[in-house]
Order: sequence, then structure tokens, then C-alpha cells
Amino acid sequence: MQPPDSAADIRDVNIRYHDGAAADYDAKWGIDWGDVGSDQVLGKVRRALGRELPAFGRSLEIGAGTGYFSLHLLRAGVVAEASCTDISQGMIDALQANAQRLGLTVDAQVAEAERLPFPDASFDLVLGHAVLHHLPDLEAAFAEFHRVLKPGGVLVFAGEPSRTGDRLATVPKVTATALAPLWRRAMRASPARPGQSDGGAANHELERHVDVHAFTPGQLDDLARTAGFDDVRITGEELLANWFGWTNRALESTAVPEEIPNAWRQYAFRGYLALKGLDERLLEGRLPAGIFYNLLLSARRP
Ligand SMILES: C[S@@+](CC[C@H](N)C(=O)[O-])C[C@H]1O[C@@H](n2cnc3c(N)ncnc32)[C@H](O)[C@@H]1O
Repeated sequence: MQPPDSAADIRDVNIRYHDGAAADYDAKWGIDWGDVGSDQVLGKVRRALGRELPAFGRSLEIGAGTGYFSLHLLRAGVVAEASCTDISQGMIDALQANAQRLGLTVDAQVAEAERLPFPDASFDLVLGHAVLHHLPDLEAAFAEFHRVLKPGGVLVFAGEPSRTGDRLATVPKVTATALAPLWRRAMRASPARPGQSDGGAANHELERHVDVHAFTPGQLDDLARTAGFDDVRITGEELLANWFGWTNRALESTAVPEEIPNAWRQYAFRGYLALKGLDERLLEGRLPAGIFYNLLLSARRP
């Protein structure tokens, strides 16, 4: 398969990949709907803003996936009303199912980031997590975020891969792939079927075509300022936690999931949280944003 080269191809691949991944998405990424997940989401928004969380009125999430951010923000009372959009109908269906299970009401609809079906100045907060790097036309998307925000409204994006962090993350991924046979023997787990963790072999093939950007902090800053935002703030998070997380995810993806011992999963989860705490206390705020794996952006519509 040739890499997609037009905006329409990128959107089409994203729809097909995420439709195929939606059913197992929460399990694959360990999305937690209890206090742990809530702390993660609220912590990321707090870190992006660089201050305590205000209470927002209407929010709009871009590429909301299964609802990880909006549903936690709604449940915690950080937003009063949530609209969620995603290019994938499969993701919107999974989001609605999660909302129903949690007893929450959201407006959820299929929409592209670059063409939002809302009137001007509709929202107090526009947000997204791990979505900007999938968008073929970032300038058009940022113009839309600006248009649908009310004056004084806030923009927050988190979980965007940084260019340097992305390159550094290849080291644990390659190392883990090399060590995988030994690790599986130690875990007494059999080798995975191709594509088992993301919707089957066909989806596995699409995976490497869905991510179209990794950012420098300066690029995100430019995009926000060019669209007319001010108070632009770019920060980085997760370094040690990320290397640890990618190593474990790369190892786990090579084995049949049901055969991975629970003790390993506990170790991977607790280790990740411990290193994340270390990143927050010792490294974030001291080292340049660009070397962390994830970039966070906040800005304000004047
Ligand atoms: C990595 S997932 C993140 C989902 C969710 N925000 C989360 O953190 O769990 C990226 C999401 O962006 C959506 N997406 C990709 N391209 C898009 C586009 N052009 N417009 C809107 N959503 C898009 C995908 O369908 C997918 O649900």
C-alpha cells in the first residue's frame, strides 16, 4: 500500500482505521472510567492551562474517540454541557455507549475537525486529546476552533506527539520487539495473531498511515497564533513514563492478551504511574518541552 498523499486519503484512512479500532479501543489503551482516569484527564487539562481548573459552560471536543476526556470532564463538573465530534461513526457509537453506561448525556456527532457543524461563538472550551497529529489541514482546523469559540473562550489540546519525543520513543519500541520472544517465554504466553489489538490484520496495515504529524513546540505555537489566539502556552509531559509505557505496550502487543499474567499488568500499570509522578516532580518544567513525548497546548480567543 502506498502512503496516502491527499487530505481526502488521510481522512479516509482515519475513518477506516478508527471504525475498526473502536470496539477494543478502551481495552487497548487501558482507558479507565474510575478515579484513576479522572485524575489523569483533569491533571492533563490542569497542566495544559498551568492553573487550577475553572468551571466551563459549553465544551466541544474534537476527535473525541470513546469519550475519555469529555465524559470525565462532564462527570467531574469541569464542563456543564459537552458536545463531542469525531470523524469515525464507530468511535461516536462507542462514546454513546460509554456515556449511557456512566449515566451521562452528551451531544455526539460525526464531524471533521476542519468543518465543524456549529455556529460561530458557540463554545467556552474547545479541546482535544491525541487528535491534532491525524489532521491533514491544521490551518483550516485551527481557524474552525477559533470560529466556534466565544470571545474569551479557551482552547486546550493534550497528548500530541513531539517530534523529538517520537524519535526517542523508537528506542524502547525497537528494544522491546527484539526482547519479545524472551519476554513471552518468561510470561508463558503464545505469540499474538497479526493485528489482534487494533481490529484485525487489515486494520494493522492502516495503522502506520493514520499519524501524519509529530510537532515541535514552535509549530503548535505558530498554528495557534496564526489562527488569532493569544495567551498561547506549550508544555511537555511524560519522558520516563513514556519509555516504560512504550516498552511494555510493545512487549504486550506480541502476545495473546488473555495469556499475559495479571501480575505483569499490575507491574506495568503501577510502574507507569510511579514514573509519571517522577516526570511531573523532577523533569517537567525543568527540561525543554520538545524532548517530552507529549505536548500540551492552551490558548485563548481574544
Ligand atoms: C488517537 S484517537 C484519540 C481519541 C480520544 N481523543 C482519546 O484520547 O481517547 C484520535 C481520534 O481522532 C479522530 N480523527 C481522526 N481524524 C480526524 C478528523 N480529521 N476530524 C475529526 N476527528 C478525527 C479519530 O477517529 C480518533 O477517534
